[in-house]
Amino acid sequence: MVGLGAGALALGGCSLLPGPPRRGLPSPGTAEKTGRVREYTLRAAPLEFEVGSRKVRTWGYEGGVPGPEIRVREGDTLRAKVENRLPEETTIHWHGLPVVNKVDGVPGVTQPPIKAGEDFVYEFVVPMAGSHMYHSHVGLQLDRGLYGPLIVEPRNEDLSYDREHVVVLDDWLDGVGGTPDDALAELRGSSRGPGGMMGGMGGGMMGGAVLEYPLYLINGRPAEDPPTFEVRRGETVRFRVLNPSAETLYRFAVGGHRMSVTHADGLPVDPVETEALRIGMGERYDVLVRADNPGVWQVAAAPENKPGLARAVLRYRESGEEPPPPQDARPRELEGRFPSYADLKTKGLKSFPSSTGPFSGPDRVHRLVLSGGHGGYRWAIDGQLYPDADPLKVSEGEWVRVEMQNQSMMPHPMHLHGHSFQVVTEGGRGPWKDTALVEPHMGNLTFDFTADNPGEWFFHCHNAYHMESGMARVISYR
Ligand code: C2O
Ligand code: CU
Repeated sequence: MVGLGAGALALGGCSLLPGPPRRGLPSPGTAEKTGRVREYTLRAAPLEFEVGSRKVRTWGYEGGVPGPEIRVREGDTLRAKVENRLPEETTIHWHGLPVVNKVDGVPGVTQPPIKAGEDFVYEFVVPMAGSHMYHSHVGLQLDRGLYGPLIVEPRNEDLSYDREHVVVLDDWLDGVGGTPDDALAELRGSSRGPGGMMGGMGGGMMGGAVLEYPLYLINGRPAEDPPTFEVRRGETVRFRVLNPSAETLYRFAVGGHRMSVTHADGLPVDPVETEALRIGMGERYDVLVRADNPGVWQVAAAPENKPGLARAVLRYRESGEEPPPPQDARPRELEGRFPSYADLKTKGLKSFPSSTGPFSGPDRVHRLVLSGGHGGYRWAIDGQLYPDADPLKVSEGEWVRVEMQNQSMMPHPMHLHGHSFQVVTEGGRGPWKDTALVEPHMGNLTFDFTADNPGEWFFHCHNAYHMESGMARVISYR
């Protein structure tokens, strides 16, 4: 473990912490409209995807992988027309944005799925700036090419930088060895008994199966054919690093450079200098890099506990025709330290009652055990498998605390729709996020949020295979 601290801590009955802000974060009701309408068409359809030297059949948006970048401003109205030309149902979820419930894109929870051949228009006021993403929320469609970056510029940018690059990570198997549905069948089949192919699965409580992917991509390109990020000496570069991978956590680093983390899941943090990042499925980080070390450098995302590498090339204009680093070069920064949630302090969000408000406790606490195995590839929250699972109740206006303990052997990036939450760490209040890793082997994670966006909201593991295998609940306002 190279992390700077043990990360988040379950605080049990301790409530001597200032509460979360009641009005500090944007919610659909508070977004100030710009009056501008931004229209996009997202045609979801089968396509041929050239990935390095291969051509595979997959599903994507607008003919490419990832889908087109959506870039809007906070307060704009986003009108996205989805044309479903897939052979099955689909939806789109706006991952990271606390939108109004009816456009949140969860089939059977916030809308009926969009049938094959039909169109559907999502329209909402964009409530919050930040580096977010959009993706299908049906089955394992996320593990095809049905995802893309969703960048929301703030009304006033307070970071100063000279250029930016969006870095979208992905683990790729579709069309190479089979489909994501084949992969899930294999995970399920191999877990049936102690004699299965994946030895780790035989142990009952210990779900140990992971998918080793044939390819890891940055912006749709494999290590053999990396994208190039250009830079000039002296510039400050912003990287928006997004992880819509279905099943892979990464360490991320820029060879020859340090990074300054400025945002976690789109929300600002006090800048933290670091060599590496650890980024779970569904998480996003923004970093600034000072381009003060001319050359041609490896930008690397190394899957955690899996062989392989995703990479891009950072090329200084001054470096002429210098060749890129070898395909499998692992910059030493990858082994460096990465910030834990406890190292990330929220920045610029108002309404903390920390010095003035009364010290009180949450109005409601949900204590949840995450587990896996149970004699098969099944992933449970408190022993229940979605959709056969009770909703978690909240009431409007409550300060809600969720305490999780992970009794399985895999990390779970837990994602909450419709709200940002604040991670509670051993040092007190950590960053605002919408997706946070609960570490394996009895790892704990606690977060708080304000129930200020009524509706039925999905809360689930962002490992797509875990979500498909039960690890989800609905948080329900009653
Ligand atoms: Cu990005 Cu419910 O997911
Ligand atoms: Cu999980």
